Amino acid sequence: MQADEEIEEKGDQNEKSPRSKKKGGIKRFVKKKLRRNFSSSSGGFPSSSGEEDLSPQDTTTTSHKISLQVGEKAVPMAEQRLSEMLKKTRFVRRRNKMLGMLSFQPDAFEVGELVARGGFANVHKLETWLCDCDLNEDENWGKQYVLKSLRADGARTAERLASMASDLMMEAHILSALEHPHVLALRGISTRGLSSLKRGHVDGLFLILDYLPTTLYHKLVEWQNAEEELEETQSTSPSLRDRFQAAIDLASALKYVHSKNIVYRDIKASNVGFDAQGCLKLFDFGLAVEIPRSSDPNRTFQLAGRKGTARYMAPENIKKKPYNAKADVFGMAILTWQMLALSKPFANQTSSDAVLQKISHGDRPPLKFLATNSFQSTTTQPKLEQLLATAWAKSLEDRPTMKVMHARLVQISKGEFGRHDDNDNQNDRKDDSQKTGQEEAYPLTDASVTSADSSSSRSPGENDENDNSKPEHGGEQEDPTETFQYF
Ligand SMILES: Nc1ncnc2c1ncn2[C@@H]1O[C@H](COP(=O)(O)OP(=O)(O)O)[C@@H](O)[C@H]1O
Ligand SMILES: [Mg+2]
Repeated sequence: MQADEEIEEKGDQNEKSPRSKKKGGIKRFVKKKLRRNFSSSSGGFPSSSGEEDLSPQDTTTTSHKISLQVGEKAVPMAEQRLSEMLKKTRFVRRRNKMLGMLSFQPDAFEVGELVARGGFANVHKLETWLCDCDLNEDENWGKQYVLKSLRADGARTAERLASMASDLMMEAHILSALEHPHVLALRGISTRGLSSLKRGHVDGLFLILDYLPTTLYHKLVEWQNAEEELEETQSTSPSLRDRFQAAIDLASALKYVHSKNIVYRDIKASNVGFDAQGCLKLFDFGLAVEIPRSSDPNRTFQLAGRKGTARYMAPENIKKKPYNAKADVFGMAILTWQMLALSKPFANQTSSDAVLQKISHGDRPPLKFLATNSFQSTTTQPKLEQLLATAWAKSLEDRPTMKVMHARLVQISKGEFGRHDDNDNQNDRKDDSQKTGQEEAYPLTDASVTSADSSSSRSPGENDENDNSKPEHGGEQEDPTETFQYF
């Protein structure tokens, strides 16, 4: 499942025409009698036939059916796996807001078109609310939402379904614990949760998220097309500032995520979106894992290996060695190169295996092609080269933290464009001063980049990008300091 599959599933026409037709026109509350089904975890499902009538599966051609046997067997397995995953967290367990989360029966809304399909999930638009709830109150008028549910075609065995379902629930727990302007917010969950799988289809288990009109994957295509139309005499790229901003905002999201000891593990363009205001949002926390807090950014943990997407996968992850949040720094470096060079990393490699081999052998995208045209400031290119060369270093000890990477990107952007609107600074200050009672200065010098910092389940398949087929979680060693196994 290449990222190209998104284009297949989420062609621009598909995506844009219904949106413009419905602009500001989400139909409000329709059936008051359904209200009791909303947000009542004890409220039962309507009768089987009633549910069939209102089921999301009726409004799309996507199949949500799984074998009843598989569903029934998967539920206790998924519950156990989720509870094991949660036990290993500290921040997520303490801070998740799942208890207060809005919960919905599948008949609380009509499901619209398929927006896109990932390696694990189908994402559909929420077409019409059939209940009254906070999400369609006046202050949210015109806001659009999506439903993320599992792909039935990936759930052939109970084990596989249990793994996918517990990852989706874990994603909900993690998202509900996070709060950052560049991390997509979770708005609601399905009332029945995991137990809905017993009913023989997967769409009773869903997350409700804000709708993102576009992804970074599509933006990259737009930026590249615009570049091709440039006059030969034009030396600066009109999108360069936006691309820098996207890199900075993404680094800001990841820096925040890391500050909560969460490793994201699936950095790629198709997991990053932009809301209606153009604000970058990181989503798809299906692979994210919380690691124990440590003052040493180089302390590693035996996490499940080969998680994520081949092109962005850090060598230690490929080799199933212990790793930590620095694996995200590696992925961020590759994606930053992609945003700046407007070129696909390891474009000549068509199989994941070939990409993994290249990365393991130390091959990296060519730094000299970073500028699509040329940078205004003579220092931009060498500074970027230095940043990326360290951020995708083979050894994680040589990589900066995401905090330093973010600060360096801000600094380089300032050098290139002059003043820079660093929305993140405010969040940082709040975050850091809450912890320390004072502002923390960024280590901005080149020396500090090295000195301060030298200090579920997806594996790459035949086709990478969106191929997130998750391996079984066997074969993981325990971290010597922990008595449990990581996912
Ligand atoms: N909130 C959203 N708004 C619009 N599209 C989305 C949203 N969330 C996901 N998508 C689309 O659906 C695809 C799959 O969703 P994702 O959460 O990445 O699932 P998976 O775990 O299967 O990769 C994304 O690559 C993106 O194109
Ligand atoms: Mg994804």
